[in-house]
Amino acid sequence: MVIVYESKTGFTKRYADWLAQKTGMEIFSVKDLAKVDRKEEIIFLGWLKAGTIQGLKKVRDYNLKAVCATGTAPAAEPNEQTVKARNRIEHLPFFYLRGGCLPLREMKGMDKVLLSCFVAMLKKRKNQDEKVRESIAHLENGFDGVREENLKPVLEWLSAR
Ligand SMILES: Cc1cc2nc3c(=O)[nH]c(=O)nc-3n(C[C@H](O)[C@H](O)[C@H](O)COP(=O)(O)O)c2cc1C
Repeated sequence: MVIVYESKTGFTKRYADWLAQKTGMEIFSVKDLAKVDRKEEIIFLGWLKAGTIQGLKKVRDYNLKAVCATGTAPAAEPNEQTVKARNRIEHLPFFYLRGGCLPLREMKGMDKVLLSCFVAMLKKRKNQDEKVRESIAHLENGFDGVREENLKPVLEWLSAR
């Protein structure tokens, strides 16, 4: 089995690198997918953008065995079942890993536009609870939720195979 990942700002890559270190598996960026044999088993790691796992489409025709997705939320939103259904991976083991985000001022292009709209929308909410206030602060100031221990369920799944 090999690791294939898609990462724009580096948070998902950190998990992919750790996984490679801990398991000795070969690791490929999705950009180097051509180097991976189609029959080779793959564990894929991507990041969530409005509920869609980025890069997943590119590995669909490969021998995909498990999928991990990073996001800024504490848990997959609105829940794991919905994320799996939306990304058509109901038949595969799925692991949500908390990622992170750069401060909004360091973001670029369309992602910056989309996140700025999202922050503006959150700020307009009348009943802002602690969770919403925390999301606004994370998006504006940046946030790093990447923790090595979050990989534990993935490592357990791998060793149980
Ligand atoms: C435009 C945009 C949309 C996002 N949508 C979601 C989302 O739906 N759910 C979530 O938990 N995180 C979302 N995020 C946060 C990213 O998934 C998170 O920052 C991820 O860890 C980034 O991974 P990377 O550094 O490997 O690119 C979004 C980020 C951007 C820029």
